[in-house]
Amino acid sequence: MNNIEQIEKTLTELYQKYLPSSEGHTASYIPELAKADPKKFAIAAVTVDGKSFSIGDKEYLFTLQSVSKPFVYGLALETHGRELVLSKVGVEPTGDAFNSIIELERQSHRPYNPMINSGAIAISSLIKGPNLNNRLQQILNLFQSYSGHAHSIDENVFNSEKKTAHRNRAIANLLLHFDIIDHDIEETLDLYFKQCSILTDTVDLATMAATLANGGIQPVHLNRVLSADHARDILSLMFTCGMYDTAGEWAYTVGLPAKSGVSGGLIAVVPGVMGIAVYSPLINDHGHSVRALNVFRDLAKIHNLSVFSSGVR
Ligand code: DON
Repeated sequence: MNNIEQIEKTLTELYQKYLPSSEGHTASYIPELAKADPKKFAIAAVTVDGKSFSIGDKEYLFTLQSVSKPFVYGLALETHGRELVLSKVGVEPTGDAFNSIIELERQSHRPYNPMINSGAIAISSLIKGPNLNNRLQQILNLFQSYSGHAHSIDENVFNSEKKTAHRNRAIANLLLHFDIIDHDIEETLDLYFKQCSILTDTVDLATMAATLANGGIQPVHLNRVLSADHARDILSLMFTCGMYDTAGEWAYTVGLPAKSGVSGGLIAVVPGVMGIAVYSPLINDHGHSVRALNVFRDLAKIHNLSVFSSGVR
């Protein structure tokens, strides 16, 4: 009922509709991200059979930020298996902000899930290697296998986050205190900040999302990036936790597994069908791109994309 041509037409209309929007603000707690050009806006979709559509600033490069989290979680699952990963990071939504420290301290002593910062830092610490470069290379290789090409790091964003990451440093210290991560806190944080500073464009993000939609097989090169079971695990967590303290509202209005990043990227997965990505650096107070939220809410409604829809419309 929904073919890619119909989706393309809707995405083109939604691009035009939200292009004039100036709602939201660039991320200010990482000073380098605050400098982003608020006019940048791109939308891309990639189907599980490798067809793609994109519009706007589709080749403009920005940093992954939290959109990296589900993919690095997948690498940890592939490397260590579920049991070990679950012993370090849970699978429950928090209802708190992405950078909250409250539940970790008050109750759980283990990060609730890998989409919030505490969980993602714990997951980065599971990417083992003889040194930081080796560990980073594993993550860069991972993103290359998803996108089909090599990625580099935005060193300015990395340094900017490293300098101002007082909250993440507090989280890492608590994680050490609770025996979730090892003593090399600064190296683990560096790895996490580097993974957040990997440069990508909107088409890459849609291709990465399409790989998850396709059960772990990259839809263009047809290489298996991760097992179907682990792809499903990631999608479950993106659904329940990917949008943090607005996961409920997102599930209600859009109904798709998703992940946002404070630089302005947002991906959503239509399982078995396609991956969609929107980039616009104007975010709301929950850390989600405002234009992207609007595009996904309208798109899901028009095409009945929620995973809970009956398919009848
Ligand atoms: O740890 C941080 O604060 C950032 N590097 C990533 C946060 C982020 O993208 C939150 N998502 N919307």
